[in-house]
Amino acid sequence: MVVINPWGSSQYEDYRKLMEQFGIGDMSRYIDMLPNPPPIFRRSIVFGERGFNSILGAIRRKDPFVILTGLSPSGKMHLGHKMVIDQIKYYQKFGAFAYIAVADLEAYGARGVPLKVSERIAIEEYVKNYLALGLDPERFQVYFQSKRIKVLDTGYFFSRFVKWGEMEAIYGFNSSYNMAHIMAPIVQIGDIMHVQLEEFGGPRPTLVPVGVDQDPHLRLCRDVAERARALNFMPFDQGIMITASQEGRDLLREVERRLKEVGYSDLDVNVPYGVIKVFGAREEDEYLIERILIEVQRGKCEMAMFKPSSTYHRMMTGLTGGKMSSSKPETAIFLTDSEEEIWKKVMNAITGGRSTAKEQRELGGIPERCSVFEIYAYHLVEDDEELMKIREECSSGERLCGPCKKEAYQRLSELLREIQERRESISEKEVKEVVSYE
Ligand code: TRP
Ligand code: SF4
Repeated sequence: MVVINPWGSSQYEDYRKLMEQFGIGDMSRYIDMLPNPPPIFRRSIVFGERGFNSILGAIRRKDPFVILTGLSPSGKMHLGHKMVIDQIKYYQKFGAFAYIAVADLEAYGARGVPLKVSERIAIEEYVKNYLALGLDPERFQVYFQSKRIKVLDTGYFFSRFVKWGEMEAIYGFNSSYNMAHIMAPIVQIGDIMHVQLEEFGGPRPTLVPVGVDQDPHLRLCRDVAERARALNFMPFDQGIMITASQEGRDLLREVERRLKEVGYSDLDVNVPYGVIKVFGAREEDEYLIERILIEVQRGKCEMAMFKPSSTYHRMMTGLTGGKMSSSKPETAIFLTDSEEEIWKKVMNAITGGRSTAKEQRELGGIPERCSVFEIYAYHLVEDDEELMKIREECSSGERLCGPCKKEAYQRLSELLREIQERRESISEKEVKEVVSYE
């Protein structure tokens, strides 16, 4: 399958740079291996990953994996937020359960939002829309950071492995920051890791689908998960190397036995050095090896868990340029917008069109710089060929912005009308069933 990149130069380059600078993996290399990937995967909207390998391993072996993501209860839910839900729906089809954290402590700490306000926004805006968007209610749960003691416990435990200098380096913290800010990333580690506690289903691959702005948290969390384990692994030129800390060394014979049991025979075991080399093991073996290491550590090493995996999606461009933001209504289309609002916002949106129709017919538009085209690509057109046709019509000058916007408006208002109708029919009982207060 070809990966379609509907974006041109500038934006694409920005993401490229980001990936290189921080070592974010290219999601497109997994697309061919995923069964029926939805449009946002095919179009490189979900563009980056860390450790997605483990998730693919679990999908392929039909093993359990879990989704954990969080929402910042800052206002209304807009089209940009819908992208995470589209991804969760896809993973639910493989049986994954999704936990969604309401970051109410973070919102209080960073912006002084009272917990009651966060709760109201979470229920009225997010939970109801999640149900309306068709998340499988059997397979997700929304919880509050402030109400789940295990989140704080887990963050506290893992914070043993975080040094202050690291916090300064990653987040730019200094002595003028208040402690709520400093605790937020620790609480987020608690969110991400607590789903692997026994009472939340035990250790299993965990995927965190987020916008790329959350990557610093994921980097930290993955490092810390590694430090908390007695057994780790890394690739080397001839295979995969398993390394044991001092406490982990007496587990290596058991690891060896387990590896042989599943068919890895070419091993070099060196207990005094705390190393096992698994010759010939490749990337696709990592999931199974990680699972064995965690199983062997259980009972001995309480916090031995899978390193969380993440995927990153592009941020939608705001309708007025800049960022799409809940706090600036003119930049975003909200899921609860009325037809008049949608009309007004689409008509005022920044496009990649030319200043006159004549010029546009001659030179063509620039869909890569058009917020309306982005809405088509992210939300309105399922079929890849149809999308490419719109794109070509635009850049060849055949399509003019007026009619193009009208079409976008029509499709969008139909989509949102359906969501809003479903939303109206949701009962209190249905909401209660997917919200946890502990
Ligand atoms: N920090 C996230 C934001 O600003 C919200 C969040 C809290 C989160 N906990 C999380 C995201 C865990 C992903 C996973 O949007
Ligand atoms: Fe954007 Fe459509 Fe205008 Fe092209 S024709 S620039 S896609 S609004």
